[in-house]
Amino acid sequence: MESSSVLVFSLIVGLVMGIVAPQAEARAFFVFGDSLVDSGNNDYLVTTARADSPPYGIDYPTHRPTGRFSNGLNIPDIISEYIGMEATLPYLSPELTGERLLIGANFASAGIGILNDTGIQFLNIIRIFKQLEYFQQYQQRLSGLIGPAQTQQLVNQALVLITLGGNDFVNNYYLVPFSARSRQFSLPDYVRYLISEYRKVLTRLYELGARRVLVTGTGPMGCVPAELAMRSTNGECAVELQRAARLFNPQLIQMIRGLNSQIGADIFIAVNAVEMQRDFIKDPQQYGFVTSKIACCGQGPYNGLGLCTIVSNLCPDRDVYAFWDAFHPSERANRIIVRQIFTGTTEYMYPMNLSTIMALDSRT
Ligand SMILES: *[C@@H]1O[C@H](CO)[C@@H](O)[C@H](O)[C@H]1NC(C)=O
Ligand SMILES: *[C@@H]1O[C@H](CO)[C@@H](O)[C@H](O)[C@H]1NC(C)=O
Repeated sequence: MESSSVLVFSLIVGLVMGIVAPQAEARAFFVFGDSLVDSGNNDYLVTTARADSPPYGIDYPTHRPTGRFSNGLNIPDIISEYIGMEATLPYLSPELTGERLLIGANFASAGIGILNDTGIQFLNIIRIFKQLEYFQQYQQRLSGLIGPAQTQQLVNQALVLITLGGNDFVNNYYLVPFSARSRQFSLPDYVRYLISEYRKVLTRLYELGARRVLVTGTGPMGCVPAELAMRSTNGECAVELQRAARLFNPQLIQMIRGLNSQIGADIFIAVNAVEMQRDFIKDPQQYGFVTSKIACCGQGPYNGLGLCTIVSNLCPDRDVYAFWDAFHPSERANRIIVRQIFTGTTEYMYPMNLSTIMALDSRT
């Protein structure tokens, strides 16, 4: 065991046994969702949605691919850094055993969405209901280590992140012209349906013990290099996907507000990823990027077509690109997003940001 995990272990054991005062550092972290937050679960699955070969991971500490859809760290890694914890391991990792369970776990799986039929083209991925089942299984395993009461306390005091929605548009409704979902629903009706299903997912998460949950909506889907390559003629963000994001995100905040008032506590915190990314997409130079349109790794217009592989174009300096591949932000862009999660105003974080949450929770 590394010394840092020994430290975390003793902090948490001390905490659950009531020996030391509650410390913000000793807080488990659980992650659910899609490729924006997957830290490698898909490496263990038979799926085409994977990031386990170079140049993925080129700027990761090991300089090797890990399954993260990033040149380096992803959003959960940087949140872990901020809250002073080790990065959580993918739930399917064989290394996630014993006291490492106390750090939390990452259940996310690239390609999934709110709906079960999203991402079917990727074959074997962990759909959100399965992720929640794994969360339950995780709690049983942890119970075997520290008992049911301490397990419940650890889960109740944990920080949770869930990122869903983007794939329900790009890998379902808009995947092909005249998709089954687009024949079934108008866009506004589809968005309402997604929101009602997302509400069920969040309710289940609450039932399973989650008490502080960061909930992200979609990013500015029409502005990613893939969509610029496929749907834009002049480099402007693709209109339909931007319309989808503009419908989805306000309704997500609305739904979260309703859920919190029904429960009577600020359990769910809306993360407005559109606003966070709009700033650096609109004015990349101000954030130190040379472009927010062209992906660092890829091919075709805007490097937005196909996958990022060893034969793709690759930019020499990943820090000056907002997008690493056709769909996913670079580590540096992820850092800008997490900074907003931590200190953003209510326009970005509703009803409050993570630094406020940390301060509140360390007092209770
Ligand atoms: C998705 O699948 C799960 C498990 O198979 C099921 O419980 C759930 O109701 C399904 N969701 C929808 C929206 O069909
Ligand atoms: C967010 O964080 C900053 C401190 O970093 C704080 O001043 C601000 O009031 C917070 N905003 C909200 C809405 O919580």
